[in-house]
Amino acid sequence: MSSLFDNIFINGMELKNRFIRSATWERLADDKGYMTEELMDVYKELSKGNVGLIITGYAFVLESEKPNPGMMGIYEDDFIDEYKALTEAVHENGSKIVLQIAYGGSQTNYKPDERVIWGPSKVAQKKTKVMPKKMTEKDINTLIKAFKDAASRAKKAGFDGVQIHGAHGYLLSQFLNPYHNRRKDKYGGSIENRARIIFQIYKEIRKEVGKDYPVLIKLNCCDFFDEGMTLEESKYVSKKLSELGIDAIEISGGIAGAVHGPKTVNLKEDEESFYKDYAKEIAKDINTNVILVGGNRSLDKMDEILNNTAIKYFSLSRPLLREPNLIKRWEKGDTKKAKCISCSKCFDDNGNYCVFKR
Ligand SMILES: Cc1cc2nc3c(=O)[nH]c(=O)nc-3n(C[C@H](O)[C@H](O)[C@H](O)COP(=O)(O)O)c2cc1C
Repeated sequence: MSSLFDNIFINGMELKNRFIRSATWERLADDKGYMTEELMDVYKELSKGNVGLIITGYAFVLESEKPNPGMMGIYEDDFIDEYKALTEAVHENGSKIVLQIAYGGSQTNYKPDERVIWGPSKVAQKKTKVMPKKMTEKDINTLIKAFKDAASRAKKAGFDGVQIHGAHGYLLSQFLNPYHNRRKDKYGGSIENRARIIFQIYKEIRKEVGKDYPVLIKLNCCDFFDEGMTLEESKYVSKKLSELGIDAIEISGGIAGAVHGPKTVNLKEDEESFYKDYAKEIAKDINTNVILVGGNRSLDKMDEILNNTAIKYFSLSRPLLREPNLIKRWEKGDTKKAKCISCSKCFDDNGNYCVFKR
């Protein structure tokens, strides 16, 4: 029988339990994406709360494209020393930390007139109505290099790994999505082609950081969008990444403007862990670590998934905004479910904190 509190390894990265803080944009970095005291405090508090692994909020890989205010950056070498202080602080408390690296795209409407926003095709995002510029092959190569350089900086800064953000309708997820990706070249059409940019980014990162450095990805199990990526296609992408040697896949779902899919807010008990059936399907056919994100709130439910499926890790976002010490509380024997009510009111101009803590 496996335990949620097992000491466990992801490609040599030793974790003290199977709980992960999923990437959470804190909206607390400065204008250029550099650390602030408030942001540092968030990570110190999380690591003191015994979460095995912390995945940072998404960090933008190209200076020219910052999809949201207060995001962390990783687009230049000056971040290396800056983040050393962050990784050391987290390590002192016994947690591990992985940097999530991302390119946003047309999904946000943050200053769209002040930046060049790339997309797979010239198709406006349904919700934000932002129209991207169709990427040329040269742009695609620039982006692949930016991801590779970001991973290299992350390694130098002492992060225990990197996570490619391939989910939620941001640029890489748009490549997978046939509504956004209407390309006729080798990056469009079949799912092999739509996923090509992700495979190339992964391979370039792997070449750069070596085989012993953890490289993870966050992917949608399905876009829940009429012309979106399907579960079958997500299974293909996951399997291929697993064969290429990715160390873990975090399974999420949906894009902005998605029209169906499970309920993700104000969850009742039987609505928890809302992507579990999809993630279970993906996990059973692949040979890499699968992390389930979304609505993980109760220990007994996660324990059942752990022991009856191939899903071996559980990541949480909103519950750790409400209770950064949640894992420590559980570990100490207070096993009541997370206090988070999944209201999703955590988004705020002054920093993404839980409303019950403001
Ligand atoms: C305030 C906030 C910021 C988020 N920022 C990110 C992010 O930077 N990258 C990402 O992949 N997901 C992000 N997410 C999504 C979470 O990682 C997670 O997938 C989602 O909230 C579902 O998990 P939960 O039910 O435990 O909150 C964010 C969610 C919230 C609430």
